Amino acid sequence: MADFLLDSDIDEITERLRGVAANFAGKTILITGGRGFLGRYFTAVFERLNEKVLDKPCRLLVLDNLITAGKEGSVIPDLPSGEFIHHDVINPFQCDGPVDYILHLAGIASPYYYRAYPLETLEVATRGTRHMLELAHQKGARILFFSSSEIYGDPDQKHVPTPESYRGNVACQGPRACYDESKRVGETLCYIYHELHGTETNVVRPFNVFGPGMQETDYRVLPNFANRIKAGLALSVYGSGDQTRTFCYITDAVYGFLLVLLKGVPGEAYNIGNPKPEISMVDLVQRIQKVQGGDVTYNIIEYPDSYPADEPNRRCPDIKKARLQLDYAPIVDLDDGLGRFFAWSDTVYTGEQ
Ligand SMILES: NC(=O)c1ccc[n+]([C@@H]2O[C@H](COP(=O)([O-])OP(=O)(O)OC[C@H]3O[C@@H](n4cnc5c(N)ncnc54)[C@H](O)[C@@H]3O)[C@@H](O)[C@H]2O)c1
Repeated sequence: MADFLLDSDIDEITERLRGVAANFAGKTILITGGRGFLGRYFTAVFERLNEKVLDKPCRLLVLDNLITAGKEGSVIPDLPSGEFIHHDVINPFQCDGPVDYILHLAGIASPYYYRAYPLETLEVATRGTRHMLELAHQKGARILFFSSSEIYGDPDQKHVPTPESYRGNVACQGPRACYDESKRVGETLCYIYHELHGTETNVVRPFNVFGPGMQETDYRVLPNFANRIKAGLALSVYGSGDQTRTFCYITDAVYGFLLVLLKGVPGEAYNIGNPKPEISMVDLVQRIQKVQGGDVTYNIIEYPDSYPADEPNRRCPDIKKARLQLDYAPIVDLDDGLGRFFAWSDTVYTGEQ
């Protein structure tokens, strides 16, 4: 098992990348937030590409200040293809030598943590993104900024599924604003660098990615449920339970993100997610009951103070743009993904908090 992830998932992503992987041969790739959930996948995939696919290995620079990397991310493994650098991207970053690609993932992604760290959340997406754009400009690197589906706020029904052209319905004050608004500013910075300097920027807007490797203390919905199942507790569904989401399995997401990095039209934003099914939280529990063999109970409760209320009622991506421009299509269905995730969490999670 690579870095708490499933070897078979890393192989699956690596195989799907065979047609485009040569672009990474001999290149230097900088990953910010590289010890987080998605960052550890990118690192493992590039290591596997070096082992199995690339003629000339790529070199990795993995940056993280470990603020929310948790116990899984804070144990730094050997990186045969590069190095880990403890760095807070709120400060400028300089390095010798070329940088060809930047995956700017650093962010405070879980609502539980952005409630706890609102200023850090805002600054990593604004100042942190500015510093990474400056580096991309100096080095002539291609940069992918990880924005979020949250930049759409709480879309009107007629804009769900939501295309990239939808401008959003977002509150600039409130418990979610530090995340939603700072990601919007991060996107604006990308737009400015592209316009002003011709920097090759792309933005991805991920829609609820899940999979093995999510920290038990992540507090996003699926690790939260998995922790309670492991502890033998009833699941807690917040609010009405009618709010809907879509869930994209990690292998589909990482493949899609790398297609955007390599083939996205510079300056453009892309939704990456799995639009099917759009599912309510109560129906999600029922899916989990099915996958787990029926042994799961749940309660519908008020939002706890630790969780920012005012969450969107519906969220579902329109992925036509990625399908048409990048030939992107998710292939892991929800039951398969839930099966892989819960089988993994059952072996790794402790049920403690
Ligand atoms: N996973 C998803 O479903 C999802 C959905 C929408 C957007 N995103 C965005 O994608 C990115 C990666 O998401 P993730 O799920 O891996 O999140 P994560 O919380 O698991 O990882 C983020 C990493 O960034 C690091 N970090 C935070 N602030 C930093 C700073 N100032 N300097 C350096 N490192 C810093 C954290 O320590 C952590 O290791 C985030 O920017 C997130 O907002 C993810």
